[in-house]
Amino acid sequence: MSKKIASARISEKSSQLLQDLNNSLPFDKVLYKEDIEGSRAHAYMLCEQGIISKEDYEKIEGGLYEILGEIESGVFKLDGDDEDIHMAIEGRLTEKVGDAGKRLHTARSRNDQVALDFRLYVQNNTKAIADLLLENITTLVKVAEENSETMLPGMTHLQHAQPINFGYHMMAYASMFKRDYERFMSSYERNNYSPIGCAALAGTPHPINRQTTSDKLGFNAPTLNCLDTVSDRDFALEILFNISTMMMHMSRLSEELILWSASEFKWVTLSDRHATGSSIMPQKKNPDIPELLRGKTGRVNGNLIALLTVMKGLPLAYNKDMQEDKEGVFDSVKTAILSLQVLEEMIADMTVNADKMEAACMIGHLSATDLADYLVKEQGLPFRDAYHITGNAVNLAEEKGLDISELSLEDLQSVDSRIGEGVVALLDNRASMNARQSEGGTATARTLEQVESMKGWLSKQ
Ligand code: ARG
Repeated sequence: MSKKIASARISEKSSQLLQDLNNSLPFDKVLYKEDIEGSRAHAYMLCEQGIISKEDYEKIEGGLYEILGEIESGVFKLDGDDEDIHMAIEGRLTEKVGDAGKRLHTARSRNDQVALDFRLYVQNNTKAIADLLLENITTLVKVAEENSETMLPGMTHLQHAQPINFGYHMMAYASMFKRDYERFMSSYERNNYSPIGCAALAGTPHPINRQTTSDKLGFNAPTLNCLDTVSDRDFALEILFNISTMMMHMSRLSEELILWSASEFKWVTLSDRHATGSSIMPQKKNPDIPELLRGKTGRVNGNLIALLTVMKGLPLAYNKDMQEDKEGVFDSVKTAILSLQVLEEMIADMTVNADKMEAACMIGHLSATDLADYLVKEQGLPFRDAYHITGNAVNLAEEKGLDISELSLEDLQSVDSRIGEGVVALLDNRASMNARQSEGGTATARTLEQVESMKGWLSKQ
């Protein structure tokens, strides 16, 4: 079919190997809806501008509508030897409606056609991913609200640092996903310009109206420069980068879930729906789901680097190298959508083991900074001196096999006589957590403020 409609200068049948290398139909058939939508808009505009007749337009419109049905019902299989989805659909249209079908490609090239189809795909999936991000943020906020008093050791260097609450920890991830959402949406706006009508590279002598196709397809406006437009794959790179960053966040959360599920922690229990067994060890329950989310981050990063590398040396305008733009994007989009769906379900279903988290807070002298802060605030000591005195209190606690929050007033005063009565209460872990009242801090009241602020933001999306 492709030979017949687009190889005026080629007399011999293509070698099978050329076809295997050249044909993109096996993967770009994913774009059939976008291709038909684009062709319908293009045909409408050609008719409105008097470039094709009303009669031809109606045949094209009817034929494309039928082809959509044929593809969706499996009658038209898209497994022939057409070079790509554009040729396959145009060929089928011509089979159905004859000469009218041959007029569809007037004032159009596959270069602007593929730029349009692929951009529509990226725009639609950008919205789909953004919606899933909102669902994940909503779930994280819910878990956060339920756990604003669930205390756990906050860590730096994976060492116990200061007491925080689990809600606060979840709100950190909600904040990352909010930035991801905003990144997807700003890419959507930046790329919401219509490529169709750019033709091969230089525009067309036909009296087309690009505003009409742009409006019909829901873009903000036509793109400015045709040479740029047929060479541009920034929109594809943006979705790949946005997915990589989002998956990097998901991977960090997954890593924590894996760690927290380990026997040494047991801070969370993933539901049996999201755990897998071992083929040999009957007792095992493995966190394969977060491990896969973490692993799939590597693959989406690979897709980003692959396309950056494809694009980096290309002269203007279209080069066939650019056909390599699609599989990585399809793969990253599919991966992102499935991963976000699984993550949301897993977070919603996990059990938070508050007692285990709270018990872990008695390891590591989490409230030590509070003693130093007391000496600064109440006794006027320079912070560095307060820091050293506190170090001595930690050493004493270690000698006694206690946590700093378990030292008596006498113990503390033996370290420094300026330590007054109220200090024992200050060193309680929960008091320490709730003392962190500064804006964006972990105190329960501040955490709930963050929850409210995020809910307000969610209600406006
Ligand atoms: N299948 C091609 C692609 O995905 C479509 C554009 C082909 N254009 C051309 N002039 N060969 O990039």
